[in-house]
Amino acid sequence: MRILIVGGGGREHALARIVAASPLVSSVLVAPGNPGIAAEPKTRCVAVDASDVSGLLALARTESVGLTIVGPEAPLVAGLVDAFEAAGLRVLGPRAAAARLEGSKAFAKEVMAAAGVPTARAEVHTTLDAALAALSRWPTPEVVVKVDGLAAGKGVVVAENHAQAASALRDAFGGRLGVGGDRVLLETWLAGDEVSVIALCDGERALLFPPAQDHKRIGEGDTGPNTGGMGTYAPAPVLDATDLERVRQRVIEPVLAEMRRRGTPFRGFLFAGLMVGPNGFDVLEFNVRLGDPEAQVMLGLLAEDPVPAFVAAAEGDLTGHTLDARPGEHAACVVLAAAGYPEAPRRGDPIELPSGLPPAVAVLHAGTRRAPDGRLLTDGGRVLGITGRGPTLEAAVAACYEVAPGIRFEGRQMRRDIAHRALHAGGDTTRRR
Ligand code: AMP
Ligand code: GLY
Repeated sequence: MRILIVGGGGREHALARIVAASPLVSSVLVAPGNPGIAAEPKTRCVAVDASDVSGLLALARTESVGLTIVGPEAPLVAGLVDAFEAAGLRVLGPRAAAARLEGSKAFAKEVMAAAGVPTARAEVHTTLDAALAALSRWPTPEVVVKVDGLAAGKGVVVAENHAQAASALRDAFGGRLGVGGDRVLLETWLAGDEVSVIALCDGERALLFPPAQDHKRIGEGDTGPNTGGMGTYAPAPVLDATDLERVRQRVIEPVLAEMRRRGTPFRGFLFAGLMVGPNGFDVLEFNVRLGDPEAQVMLGLLAEDPVPAFVAAAEGDLTGHTLDARPGEHAACVVLAAAGYPEAPRRGDPIELPSGLPPAVAVLHAGTRRAPDGRLLTDGGRVLGITGRGPTLEAAVAACYEVAPGIRFEGRQMRRDIAHRALHAGGDTTRRR
C-alpha cells in the first residue's frame, strides 16, 4: 500500500519513518515534506502544500494512495477529510464538523459541558466591553484569555493580573491574537502539570498512546513566551495506568459519544491537553491531530506496526487492534529552535549535522530546507528535533543531549531541562491525589 502524509514538520517526519518501516507499506509520499523526510527510505516528498486540498486529492488519485494521514489541523478544519471521503479515498482524520473540537474553543467547551468532561470554567464574549466588564468581576487575579479560532499557537494569553488580561482582550478583539478574535473566552486559570493524552479513534472506540509531557515555554524552568513545544518525553509519570484509564472514561469516551450523538462522529487522533492538579485533571483544550513534538516520542514507543490500526480507524472499526507501547521503554525529544523564535524566527542559517548517530537517536527535521547548492538551512521556528530512546527516562534524555553539541546553527536555541518535572525528585509530578 502507498501512504500519503500531509504536512512537513517534525511530526510528519516521525510519521513517515514509522509507516515506511511497515511491511504493509510499499512507499510513502509526503506533501510537502522536508529535506529530512526526503532522505528516509521508501519515502518521497511532493511539492504540494498541506492547505491545497484539490492538489492533494489529485495527488492521492494519480498515485493510487491507499491511505492518507493528515498531520496539521488547518487542512482538517478546512474539510480535507470531507473532500477525500466524497471522492471515495481512505483518509485518517476527522471531518470538518468534528475538527471543530480544535477549530473553535467555544464549541469544544459546549461539547465538554454536554459530555460532562472536567474542564476549566469559561465565558464566551463577543464584544470587548462585555469581556472587560466580566473581567472586572473575575474572582482571581490570574485569568486566561483565548481567541475562539485556530490561531497557530498564538491565541492564548495566561494573564497574571487583570491589567495583562485587559491588554490581551484588546489584542484579541483587535485581531492581534489571530483569527477568531470576534469571539473570545475568559477562562479560569488552573495550576498543575500539563500532559498530552492522544487517542486513535474510529468514531466509537479509542486506543490511547502513552501520555507525553510537552514543554511549552521557550525558557528553562518553564519561563518566557509560549511556543509550539520545545521538547517532550513519554511515558509521562504524571499519569499512571489507572489515571490514563480514567482519562479514557471521563474524557475520550464521553466526547466520542457526544460527537456521535450530534451526528458528527470523530475519527482520527483526538488529543486532550490536560492540566493535572491536586484534585484531579481538567481538559485545557482538544486538538484533532497528533501533537508536535508529542508524536516524535509516542510513535517510537509502539510495540507493533501501527499501520493496520491506522487503516482500521480510517475505516471506522478498530475492533481487535492495539496500540501498545513497548514495556519499560522511554523516549524524549529535544527541539532545536531558530534564533528569534518564537517572536520572529530567523530563516536561512546553515545547519551542520554530525555524520553518524547512535542507534537509539534520530534527528527529525521540522523547519529545514535545502539551498540550491545543497546546503541545509534553517527554515522555520522549530528547526530540528533530537529524539532518543532508552530503558529509563534518564537514558532517553541523555541520548538526546549527547548528540546535541554536534548539531550547530547560528543562534540555536535549546532547553537543557527537558523532562525536568519527572527527573527531579520533589518535582511537580509527586502524587497529590
Ligand atoms: P491551549 O492552546 O488552550 O492549550 O493553551 C496554550 C497553553 O496555555 C497551554 O498549553 C497551557 O500552558 C496554557 N493554558 C491554557 N489554558 C489554561 C488554563 N485554564 N490555566 C492555565 N494555563 C492554561
Ligand atoms: N505540542 C502541542 C501541540 O501539538 O499542539
